Amino acid sequence: MMRHFLDLSDAGGDAVAAMINDAQDRKGARADWPKGQPDSDAPLAGHVLGMIFEKNSTRTRVSFDIAMRQLGGSALILDSGTSQLGRGESIADTARVLSRMVDAIMIRTDDHEKALEMARHASVPVINGLTDRSHPCQIVADLLTVIEHGKELPGLELAWLGDGNNVLHSVLEAAALMKFNVRIGTPKGYEPEVEFVEMARAAGSIVTLTNDAEEAIAGADVVVTDTWVSMGQDHAREKLAAMAPFQVSQRLMSGAKPDAKFLHCLPAHVGDEVTEEVFEGPQSVVFDEAENRIHAQKSVLLWCFDKI
Ligand code: CP
Ligand code: NVA
Repeated sequence: MMRHFLDLSDAGGDAVAAMINDAQDRKGARADWPKGQPDSDAPLAGHVLGMIFEKNSTRTRVSFDIAMRQLGGSALILDSGTSQLGRGESIADTARVLSRMVDAIMIRTDDHEKALEMARHASVPVINGLTDRSHPCQIVADLLTVIEHGKELPGLELAWLGDGNNVLHSVLEAAALMKFNVRIGTPKGYEPEVEFVEMARAAGSIVTLTNDAEEAIAGADVVVTDTWVSMGQDHAREKLAAMAPFQVSQRLMSGAKPDAKFLHCLPAHVGDEVTEEVFEGPQSVVFDEAENRIHAQKSVLLWCFDKI
């Protein structure tokens, strides 16, 4: 069966654990090599990844490109402004054409249904590089980062503060697969989709939903936030005002465990969802997290090609 990676549960918990192990091994093996130099086994030599961007990106775009180079392959980009997708060519036709030309497709888009449609019509693996619903590639990097910083996933207490968005949905999916607990602090009306909360709870994770930031962060091993305004959303004044008490500040961080780490998928809006003191402070691991996008994306690609 074709291995699409549209959400973490397409792979399952064992595969996600294997991806993290492989990412750690490959990262360790190449240490300070030049970033474009292929890994010694070049497992995807000759393979090409086609990347479709209907939204902006820095990390996803660069990390997948460098990931393919390090695996011995290459990547190319189609953005909606300059490809026929932007003039209305269907996802189905695009999927069938690209499947004849590249070995895998990564798509960043708005409506998750478009990624599903791409997968239905592609005869090569399709990877979700972020939709309005989820961001699974990010979370593989986040889990790798948490483990690298000495935490174990089962039983981990992860606090999420701010908007109940696409990244949180993938966190909840990861909680279900990797058996950790999520303490979610959002303003009223900005909670995550119920289906993701139920998925995590059904798998045995303890998911706390609160409108009290201090309650959410209490005793956390890891504190995570994200932008209050995701791509495609309005900068609604009332939303920003409602989010203000959920800004990750040093005062709030003092309610987490003393060795808690701070994560943010980036781009960050320092002064909004996080203070400069926390973002630049000793508990922040956001640039390790950003680097880990490369190592994590390599694992995702290798899983898609049945090499993990
Ligand atoms: N975190 C993340 O996906 O970053 P980009 O939007 O820059 O790809
Ligand atoms: N929630 C953010 C994540 C960006 C990587 C967005 O969708 O814009």
